[in-house]
Amino acid sequence: MVSQNRPQAGDADPISWQPCHRVRPFARGWTLHRPRLGIVIVIATGMASHCAPSSTPGPDQSQSHALDADSAVHRWQLPPLPGKIAGMASHANQPRALSFDTVATQYAAARPGYPPALFDAVEELAGRALADADVLDCGAGTGIATRLLRERGARVVALEPGAGMAAELRRAEPEVPLVRGEGNRLPFAAGSFDVITYAQAWHWTDPARSVPEALRVLRPHGVLALWWNQADVRVAWVAAEEDRLAPFTRGFPTTVAELFAPFPVRVSTREITWSRRITVEEHTRNLGTHSHFVIMDPVERAELLDANHTALARLFPDGELDEPYRCGLTVVRSATTQA
Ligand SMILES: C[S@@+](CC[C@H](N)C(=O)[O-])C[C@H]1O[C@@H](n2cnc3c(N)ncnc32)[C@H](O)[C@@H]1O
Repeated sequence: MVSQNRPQAGDADPISWQPCHRVRPFARGWTLHRPRLGIVIVIATGMASHCAPSSTPGPDQSQSHALDADSAVHRWQLPPLPGKIAGMASHANQPRALSFDTVATQYAAARPGYPPALFDAVEELAGRALADADVLDCGAGTGIATRLLRERGARVVALEPGAGMAAELRRAEPEVPLVRGEGNRLPFAAGSFDVITYAQAWHWTDPARSVPEALRVLRPHGVLALWWNQADVRVAWVAAEEDRLAPFTRGFPTTVAELFAPFPVRVSTREITWSRRITVEEHTRNLGTHSHFVIMDPVERAELLDANHTALARLFPDGELDEPYRCGLTVVRSATTQA
């Protein structure tokens, strides 16, 4: 039923099956515990309507397109997407999409979280509180957003394809139901969740598949919420760093409303500016978890990050800096449901 979650050939770690009690969207089911990886895989039983694999419906071209104050208006035939947006979809690069697995511990320690104002904005644009919402956190990674969603009172199921990232999440958030899977083919029944989130992860999916999948798995008034922390290049030292690292990095736009043009949805966006105070070392470790560096030749990566670190150490002699972010939020809901 959820074949992509079954153990892969060659997996040698011990497995055990236990009844599933904690996964709210599934009334009954089984969890596959993989102690070595610290992963729980959820298999629903006897409830095909609850956990059927996707029969991904195509977008409904007959739907009208709604508009509200800060929404983009979407039509079926739009000009090609702007280059930066078109270049976002990274799903074709699977080794890079899963490269985080090799730096999962460093990722958990060094990556920034998300500010409370982001979750306030999610609630405002979703038109509902996160408390008591059934939330699917896709591409949950090590659980950075998962934890914050739970702190808002959401009942969170984490979905993560990477073994290393999932193991880290299991260690940090042992109570959270964790499903191994990916956003292009969600192993959940239609209408299972109030909110689907992708924190810093949606660009690894194929929108042609992940958008219809999200709309299928959401309840009628549910929303898909995507966000990214983007380094704020309006700050001089960040712009200088971007210039130093530019040949090796690729910036994304902060919001991605344009990507939803082909779908019968309404889109709202927000941008939240925030920063965190950390050491130069922590900033360098954070950079080292970005996929363009993770997949780089190790010697080249070390040289590049060392040179950048030296430049920053000169600029911040007390060893600390404010790492500034623009956190871009895109909230998407079906245009076929009432506002
Ligand atoms: C940059 S990390 C973000 C992790 C976490 N959400 C956070 O806020 O730190 C991107 C995550 O997306 C996962 N991923 C890659 N391809 C994916 C896909 N097709 N569907 C869902 N997640 C995917 C990766 O394994 C990785 O854990």
